[in-house]
Amino acid sequence: MQTTPTTALVTGAGKGIGAEVALTLAARGYRVIACARTAADLTALASRHDGIEPHALDVCDPASVARVVRALQARNVTLDVLVNNAGILLDCAPPSALPLELVRATYETNVFAAITVTQMLLPLMYGSAHPRIVNVSSGLGSFANRTDPSYSSAAINALAYQTSKSALNAVTLCFAKELGERGFKINAADPGYTSTALNGFSGPRTTEQAARVIVRLATLDDDGPNGGFFDEEGVVGW
Ligand SMILES: NC(=O)c1ccc[n+]([C@@H]2O[C@H](COP(=O)([O-])OP(=O)(O)OC[C@H]3O[C@@H](n4cnc5c(N)ncnc54)[C@H](OP(=O)(O)O)[C@@H]3O)[C@@H](O)[C@H]2O)c1
Repeated sequence: MQTTPTTALVTGAGKGIGAEVALTLAARGYRVIACARTAADLTALASRHDGIEPHALDVCDPASVARVVRALQARNVTLDVLVNNAGILLDCAPPSALPLELVRATYETNVFAAITVTQMLLPLMYGSAHPRIVNVSSGLGSFANRTDPSYSSAAINALAYQTSKSALNAVTLCFAKELGERGFKINAADPGYTSTALNGFSGPRTTEQAARVIVRLATLDDDGPNGGFFDEEGVVGW
């Protein structure tokens, strides 16, 4: 009997943590719709595993999202996993001097695009027996961390990035509350401070380590959590 492959879509999959998540899921037998806006990154990624299917996607452009949706609908693809991974960090000044355009731009990618992508892809997920959504957040968006003087990154005060991830956490809860009864498991992940282009490769963690919590949440059993915030160690305080 031929079985339909479990299908996952990862945004911002061209490099960094997103590429690692895409490759890890592909290695586990998922068909991975790897989405990125940089064609060369997609070509390089697709050459690393047969299970990777590259798609051009700018998460901030609804027409671009619609093209991916149409391409999947045309092949009757049911989406089982969505990883909203694409993110940016633009902060270059303290909160009192940060240009509002940078705050808006950060929210466009880190918050509004995650909402748009989720809303537009949900119709493809309703047919999944085990739908999972992972929003790639950050411990820097946690109020619990930010009010804890002993938190390792307590000195960081990046208004745009940190508040955008706090907002993404709240967005995660909203979708989890609506869709949990339909069998969705929708959670936020903190990959930890990881060496990627986002931070000039300053993080001590590897992308392999960062991908672990995201993959775990993407592959949760039906008795797994819904509406939580997790890192590799377990629950992260909101
Ligand atoms: N690295 C860390 O320490 C850390 C810690 C906590 C959370 N995170 C989160 O982890 C996620 C992945 O970041 P990363 O560390 O792997 O950084 P990265 O290597 O810079 O990757 C970010 C990815 O997002 C993509 N992206 C940005 N804007 C996009 C858009 N409009 N449309 C489509 N793709 C877009 C980038 O594509 P381009 O290459 O085309 O720009 C890139 O592939 C982010 O959400 C980040 O906030 C990272």
